Amino acid sequence: GVNLKGKSFLTLLDFTTDEIRYLLDIARQVKVEKRAGTPTSRFAGRTLAIVFEKRSTRTRTAFETSFGEEGGHAVFLSKDDIHLGVKEDLKDTARVLGRMFDAIAFRGFKQETVEVLAQWSGVPVYNGLTDLYHPTQILADFMTIEESLGSLKGRKLVFVGDSRNNMANSLMIGSAKMGLHFVACGPERLHTDPAIVSKCKEIAKQSGATVEVTEDVDSALKDADAVYTDVWASMGEEDKLQERIALLKPYQVNAEMMKKTGKAETIFLHCLPAVKGNEVTEDVFESPASRVFEEAENRKHTIKAVMIATLL
Ligand code: CP
Ligand code: NVA
Repeated sequence: GVNLKGKSFLTLLDFTTDEIRYLLDIARQVKVEKRAGTPTSRFAGRTLAIVFEKRSTRTRTAFETSFGEEGGHAVFLSKDDIHLGVKEDLKDTARVLGRMFDAIAFRGFKQETVEVLAQWSGVPVYNGLTDLYHPTQILADFMTIEESLGSLKGRKLVFVGDSRNNMANSLMIGSAKMGLHFVACGPERLHTDPAIVSKCKEIAKQSGATVEVTEDVDSALKDADAVYTDVWASMGEEDKLQERIALLKPYQVNAEMMKKTGKAETIFLHCLPAVKGNEVTEDVFESPASRVFEEAENRKHTIKAVMIATLL
């Protein structure tokens, strides 16, 4: 059986298909409990540090509320509250937090930071987004696909837009692990790092997944079961927005783009926050195909699942 106790959640590359399945199954179960109002106190007497260098609406509140609802005490620490990378070595901060807390959730710039925290704190560390990856988001996305379409394996998931960002990277890895047909569609200058693509193609051989990166919107969208997009300028690259708008205009997810799937039941996903009028139009965002708020809610259940699996 699967046992993730004591393990950190830094990238989906560190998890097997069975382990991801296990996390999704726990998430489904805790969602049912939450909806039924079943009282649970799995994290009673435990503490969680939420250390964030970047802004967050969903990720922070998912960690904070899911931990608190189960009787745990979460402490939010922005980069302005603690000595994070200033006046103190990160590995020293990590060792102190490891003595104060049972787990640490981190959001920030470098993937290396979350790795150092995991290496030195001695407690499970959760990656709540870095420039490179956003692994907890993928669990919510996949939970939403399963709820909407009934299955993951064999489904065609198309990411349209800035295919080099953290979301594209993590969706590609998750898809490779879980047997989806993943296409990253965007301008060549923003194509996914070839090192990540080749790693995913290797993983895909075992799961039956396929991985593709293309500029061609028509072939990418054809038969898509889910169309996914994300902001054109991620946190930390706001200065690139004008350049991105010029590059990504043909990749806006609008009604015409959704029609290219040739399927009536294709769903629309977005990790949020969304800039309507850029990567997605208001009408697609508000359409019956859109599952973005189910997806946002599922952040909470899937993040709780990660903490249950690694702490209990
Ligand atoms: N999707 C997501 O991570 O949202 P936040 O930036 O609001 O946490
Ligand atoms: N790619 C976006 C995702 C936000 C959840 C960013 O990094 O800002």
